[in-house]
Amino acid sequence: MFREGFTELEKRYEVTFPEGRDFTYEEVYGMIPEYDVLCSMFDFPVNKELIDHAPNLKLVSNYAVGYNNIDVAYCLEKGVIVTNTPSPVTVPTANHALGLMLDAARRITECDRKLRTLGEGMKVGVLENLGVPVSGQQLGIIGMGRIGKALAKRAVACGMDVVYHNRHQLDIEEETRLNVVYMSKEELLATSDFVSLNAPYTPSTYHIIGEEELKQMKPTAILINTARGPLVDELALAKALKEGTISGAGLDVFEFGDYPSPELLELDNIVMTPHIGTQTYKTRVAMAEAVCNNVIGFLEGDRPITRVLRP
Ligand code: GLV
Repeated sequence: MFREGFTELEKRYEVTFPEGRDFTYEEVYGMIPEYDVLCSMFDFPVNKELIDHAPNLKLVSNYAVGYNNIDVAYCLEKGVIVTNTPSPVTVPTANHALGLMLDAARRITECDRKLRTLGEGMKVGVLENLGVPVSGQQLGIIGMGRIGKALAKRAVACGMDVVYHNRHQLDIEEETRLNVVYMSKEELLATSDFVSLNAPYTPSTYHIIGEEELKQMKPTAILINTARGPLVDELALAKALKEGTISGAGLDVFEFGDYPSPELLELDNIVMTPHIGTQTYKTRVAMAEAVCNNVIGFLEGDRPITRVLRP
């Protein structure tokens, strides 16, 4: 985390900040018994073992909107509050999802990559490298929280028809304001030209896109995932892209950690980024400030905090 975001917190409290690197799990495990608050990165496991080793811990302030790295149920059982940072991540993540959509649709990165190896298979001409339009196409959003809604606004501005699936249907006023239509997951998959995943990673969203779901999608469809890797069965996706079950994908997150499966690397019809949905300096500082505002607000009650209320 950028230390710039910690200025106010460091003025008021004793903060142990790693210099130029991340603390390892073992280091945190060793230190945690002394600490009242843990500011955790989105890939740092806050598990039962760690919580049981932290008798003074009162707050886990996560640096992310997602909190699948934290055993929230156990924290709540132990009276440890958990907070996240929805506000600064919403717009950058929606922008990144839109970027991946446009890139995959118009094959921008694919053409760039091929142009650099001209003579090795790149054909240039007015009938080559055909993409698909974005305007006039249907976008299906799975997970209509803040990021899903921000993406919907952008897609509508691009002239797309937006449908969505969510645990709870939005009220009619909000649907009307956003210009979106609720659908079952099956109908959304069968009718959408683009499908974007914007749901949190929980046991019920694990592999929400697997072999069966990929088969339900149009052969011309493009899948976008800026949420969490395990929402998609990555090997089933590689097979579907290879066999033409769907036509393309844009991924910012991967099922097995920071890197894509080797099967994806062989494919031209996919654009990939290494979990950079919020990776601008400004956003990263704003996320660190949000982490610290949650700590100060929790300890002093002088500002609102964004609490995670259930796993
Ligand atoms: C980033 O992945 C986040 O959850 O904020």
